[in-house]
Amino acid sequence: MCGIIGYLGYREAYPILINGLKKLEYRGYDSSGIAIFYENGYSLYKSKGKVHELKKKISSYKIKGTTGIGHTRWATHGIPDDINAHPHVSNSNELILIHNGIIENYHAIKIILLKNGFTFKSKTDTEVLVNLIEYIQKKNKLSLEEAVRISLNEIVGAYSIAIVEKSHPERIVIAKLGSPLALGINEREFFIASDPIPFLDYTKNAIYLKDGEMAILRKDQELDLRKIVDNHKLSPIIKELQINLKEIEKGEYKYFMLKEIYEQPKTILDTLRGRLLIKNGLICINGIESNKDIFINAKSITIVACGTSWHASLIGEYLLEELARIPVEVEYASEFRYRNPIIEKKDIVIVISQSGETADTLSALNLAKTKGAFVFGICNVVGSSIARNVDAGAYTHAGPEIGVASTKAFTAQITVLVLLALKIGKYRLAITESRYNYLCQELGSIPEKVNRTLKIDEESIKKISKVYHNVNNFLYLGRGINFPVALEGALKLKEISYIHAEGYPAAEMKHGPIALIDENMPVVIIATKKGCYEKIIGNIQEIKARKGKIIAIVNEGDIQVSMLADYVIKVPNISEELSPLVTVIPLQLLAYQIAFIRGENVDQPRNLAKSVTVE
Ligand code: G6P
Repeated sequence: MCGIIGYLGYREAYPILINGLKKLEYRGYDSSGIAIFYENGYSLYKSKGKVHELKKKISSYKIKGTTGIGHTRWATHGIPDDINAHPHVSNSNELILIHNGIIENYHAIKIILLKNGFTFKSKTDTEVLVNLIEYIQKKNKLSLEEAVRISLNEIVGAYSIAIVEKSHPERIVIAKLGSPLALGINEREFFIASDPIPFLDYTKNAIYLKDGEMAILRKDQELDLRKIVDNHKLSPIIKELQINLKEIEKGEYKYFMLKEIYEQPKTILDTLRGRLLIKNGLICINGIESNKDIFINAKSITIVACGTSWHASLIGEYLLEELARIPVEVEYASEFRYRNPIIEKKDIVIVISQSGETADTLSALNLAKTKGAFVFGICNVVGSSIARNVDAGAYTHAGPEIGVASTKAFTAQITVLVLLALKIGKYRLAITESRYNYLCQELGSIPEKVNRTLKIDEESIKKISKVYHNVNNFLYLGRGINFPVALEGALKLKEISYIHAEGYPAAEMKHGPIALIDENMPVVIIATKKGCYEKIIGNIQEIKARKGKIIAIVNEGDIQVSMLADYVIKVPNISEELSPLVTVIPLQLLAYQIAFIRGENVDQPRNLAKSVTVE
């Protein structure tokens, strides 16, 4: 994770860096730092904590210079403190480096450097890298760019870096492998950032560096792009970014998470736009159409993801098995990649990722490709590493998601999975015409139903949150396609309110979690009419018999469960296959309200980051 930023041009670098770091904080906020360069010198400031701590610390200083680099950290090696904060400086004080990623062989390199007289102040792998570059540069009397290139060829791991030589502030060298790196380009100036948002105010012309590429940025000179492995010169292809700045503002909302929850009627509509053509009974997804035979002949599908995207994958499993009758396995990306999975040539692997940068998912994708699989991606961030590396795919089009706890990306992923399952089901003649048409109609009504869900029980959710914001444990139960929704509801609560919560299949409760139930235990149970309703009533009775408190998610017009539950939250009626798109909404709101009442920073929960680019 971590966010990196840099500027080289004619403007004052400090405001660009400090404002840019704020926009990159979703990538980590354990500490931050900047280095600003002037003729033969630099100012370096670091601070533990969020960017505003750094800003506070240096607000009275006059920081001048038109070259600078900055970093916001999610700690991997070494605790979050000022010493471990980036930028890191080499022993001679000549080289200053920022880094996002992990140098896996840093220990072996550190031993060699120690033997050669180097010393280290921090516990970070980054300080090892900056000194390795210095060692190689001095030993072989090399230019900075050549020393960086040779050093990076010795590195095992992932990185996006930016490095400046104190005596040459007119040049920044950047490089990428695994971690993201965008370069904004204007006349006479360059902007570097982990994603383009920090420089959108200045330019929309950008390139995303590819893995194994480095660039030498010089004041008033053309971009010099090269391959790290052999120094081969490359021709940069500069693209105009299509990002709307309004999408990355909080507007009237206190937190991005709340804004993103309320955006869902629109984002789901955006996901469906141009794809669901109800009048013609058509679903159009290019990535499926151009690979029709692969999907028709598929014997099975493996879906790989992490976090919330993994929960969406579980829903995808249900949908693809039910509507397209293909056996599906869902794997955590981190497990998949380390257990020699049985994937054969032409097997289908679907990878799901909001950011398109999650290191484990990216590695799982690469593993699947080396085994000859056909890899289909479902990503939100356009042009991200995963999106670029798959054989085909479908974007979720949910727009930038800033809140660390994923909400609108989740419902957009499910929407794509419904479209996929219906389309493939039709190709394989696994679904009847009437069921297909009915579900297409239902899908078209989802944005309106999500809109209603957001309004129906706002007050009850606030009331429930007031009652339960101080408990230590929550249990979330669901069955069938709503079991992953229970997992997601529990995850949301854990992530932002730090209350311990577990999701379980409702019937499985009696094999363990029931032991936890007493009069202090709130149990959120998804009890929509079409999903094993009678059985769920049985589960509710079991909880009540042990004095547990029931918060039930029911359909409008429900009577039976409503009579048993302590609290009810209503959602509109919808087919079971599509129900997660509405049942998850009150769970997102409940988590938000509880965290809000507890006074937590909803958008930046402790220890988490939005984009996990370390394994
Ligand atoms: C992190 C985020 C989660 C996200 C997960 C997977 O843990 O905090 O919100 O679900 O990564 O991320 P991805 O971008 O691959 O969906």
